[in-house]
Parts: sequence; structure tokens; C-alpha cells
Amino acid sequence: MKLATAFVHAGVRRDPATGAVAVPIYQSATFQHPALGQSTGYDYSRTKNPTRSALEEALAKLEGGSRGLAFSSGMAALHCALQLFGPDDHLVLTEDLYGGTYRLVDRILHVPCTFVDTARPDAVRAALRPNTRAILVESPTNPLMKTADLPAIADIARKAGALLIVDNTFLTPWLQRPLDLGADLVVHSATKYLAGHNDTVAGALVVKDEALAERLTYLQNGIGAILGPQDAYLVIRGLKTLALRMEKHQANARRVAAWLGAHPLVDRVFYPGMGGMLSFTLTDAALVPQVLGAVQLCLFAESLGGVETLITYPATQTHADIPAARREDLGISDRLLRLSVGIEDVHDIVADLAQALEGNLHSRQLRHPPAAHGS
Ligand SMILES: Cc1ncc(COP(=O)(O)O)c(C=O)c1O
Repeated sequence: MKLATAFVHAGVRRDPATGAVAVPIYQSATFQHPALGQSTGYDYSRTKNPTRSALEEALAKLEGGSRGLAFSSGMAALHCALQLFGPDDHLVLTEDLYGGTYRLVDRILHVPCTFVDTARPDAVRAALRPNTRAILVESPTNPLMKTADLPAIADIARKAGALLIVDNTFLTPWLQRPLDLGADLVVHSATKYLAGHNDTVAGALVVKDEALAERLTYLQNGIGAILGPQDAYLVIRGLKTLALRMEKHQANARRVAAWLGAHPLVDRVFYPGMGGMLSFTLTDAALVPQVLGAVQLCLFAESLGGVETLITYPATQTHADIPAARREDLGISDRLLRLSVGIEDVHDIVADLAQALEGNLHSRQLRHPPAAHGS
């Protein structure tokens, strides 16, 4: 079966009793045992729920893994993955990754780690220590869209006896399958492209190795941050159109990146050539509130990967937890805006950005400055 077909058929043929085409939402916390010592395969929904199983099996198939695990958010998925490591283990991470991942690793779990430019395999190699147990890569990075040579980093990880974990939120298995490129574990904020409609928060892990799959399943059940059946249903529904949506997101993003690149108020565009995400710097930070206040079609909101175009200000939203000096060093400046290019008609997206940049249509200052704390 081709990948596009597998996306459409996610969750199909789950209910032989009725033949329901859409996966049923099993809104049940617990399941009746046929007899002592017997089980239908489902005992209690934290451990296993049929709607979540449908999603988890689809995720495994789509990412080319042996097992998928669905969580209540991308952060919950990452948190579970990080429980694989102990206080004496060291991790190497992408330096400009999602601010929430930085917060979880550095501020909450206090994992010994080194942040490097994972677009440079030599930098990754130089950061290794004898106790390095994992390399966690975002590719493209958030928000600067740097891409990593995943096979090269997988090779470095394997030789060092470390796991390669890839956050595949931005590209999805339609555009990049990290397990095929040598990664051991894939992470998703399924809130984004997988679900795709800005209507649910969800996370996922996908793994190939059986022993690792067993350990993560044990941790998922033990920690308990699982995805509920209604949300699992929404992610499955999103998966069905993922291939179509990604093609449109990508086509639109290419057009918007080219248009922004030629605009006199835009200093630099960061677009990796694939996917629907891009960032750009304005020539002057004073333009930021004007643009965020003037956009009408594009929504000034945090998140990405949904059908609607969203514009985000990383400095105060997604990356607020990274200290200001470090943000500046990384290039996440106060002139940087991030666009999650939606699937609208691209002419409407460009027209909206044009009027917002030029400030010639309904331009207004924000009544309130951008929120001081991100998610
Ligand atoms: C690349 C990436 N990974 C993980 C996360 C966290 O996911 P969630 O918001 O679903 O917890 C995000 C959220 O924006 C993200 O952009």
C-alpha cells in the first residue's frame, strides 16, 4: 500500500461487529472481563483503549515503526521519552529547538545536556561525552528552519551507543521518515500537522526496536499522560487528509517565502525548501506590533500545522523560556516572526501579509503588546 493510501485508511476496519468506516470512539474507562484470568485485550483505558490503539497502530505504520504511542500532548510524549534516561546520562540537543522542549529538559527535569547546531555533524560529534545516551534533533529547527543530515547523525549516535530521537512535528511522515533514515525514536506534537485543524492537543512517539517499544509502553502506562479517545479520533481524522494538506501547505509556503524574500521590509527569510513552516526577520523591530495588529486573515496565535495560517512571535511566545541573551545568540531576535502557512488560497495569504506590512489597510496598533509568556 502506498503511503498516501495508508494515511486515508488510518483507523479503517477497526469494528468488525458493525463495519463502521469511521473508527468508533470508545468512551469507556474500563472493560468487562469475560472470566477470571481472561481479557478482551482491553482492561483499563490508561493502559489501552481501542480508539487510541487505532491511532497508535496507524502512527506506527505511517512512520515505519513497530509501535506508536499516543499522549495527551507533544510535551507529554517528550516527557515520557526522557524517562528513558537517568541523572548520570548526558543528552545532546538541537540548539534552536522548541522552547517548551528546552524548558522541560533544562528547567524542569534538569537533564545534563549540551545544545549544539545539529545542522553540523562535526558539532554533534564534538559534544559527545562518554555518558551521552541520546541525541535529540529537530529538523527543520524551530524557528530558524535549519535542517540536519539525519543519516550522518544516526551514524554518530550508533557509534556512540546513543539513541537518535527526532522531533518530526514540522515535516510529518509524508515528507520525512526519520526511522528510515536511522533514527531510533520519533516524537510528534500531533497537535500540529497530524491532527491538522487547530482543534486538539496531542502527542506521539513512534519506535522501531521492540525492547525500546516495550519500555516506552511501560512508561506510558506508568506515567499515564495518555491521549483520550475523543482526541485520538480527531487525530485519526486529521491523518486521513495529511498527504493532501502537506502538499498544499508546502506549495503555499514556497510561494509566500519567495514573496517575502522580495519585500523591502523583510530582512531575511528562513525556509528550508520543504514543508509549510517559515520564519522571517523584519528590517525593524518596531514593525512587529504593526504587522501582528494588522493581519486579518492570518491569525496571530501560537501553534502551527493547522489549515489556517498562523503568525507567531517566537521571542514572547514559543521561545519565551529561552533567556533573551541566548535567544539573540541563536538568531531568535525581536525582529523574527514565524508563519505556519495554511491551505487557504495563497493569493489571500500574500494579500493579507502585503497589507499588514505596508500598513495601508485597517492598520492598527495592538491594544495589548504580545503576551509576555508563551506556552
Ligand atoms: C517542534 C515541537 N515539538 C513539540 C512541541 C510540543 O507539543 P505540544 O504543544 O503538543 O505539547 C511543539 C509545540 O509547539 C513543537 O513545535
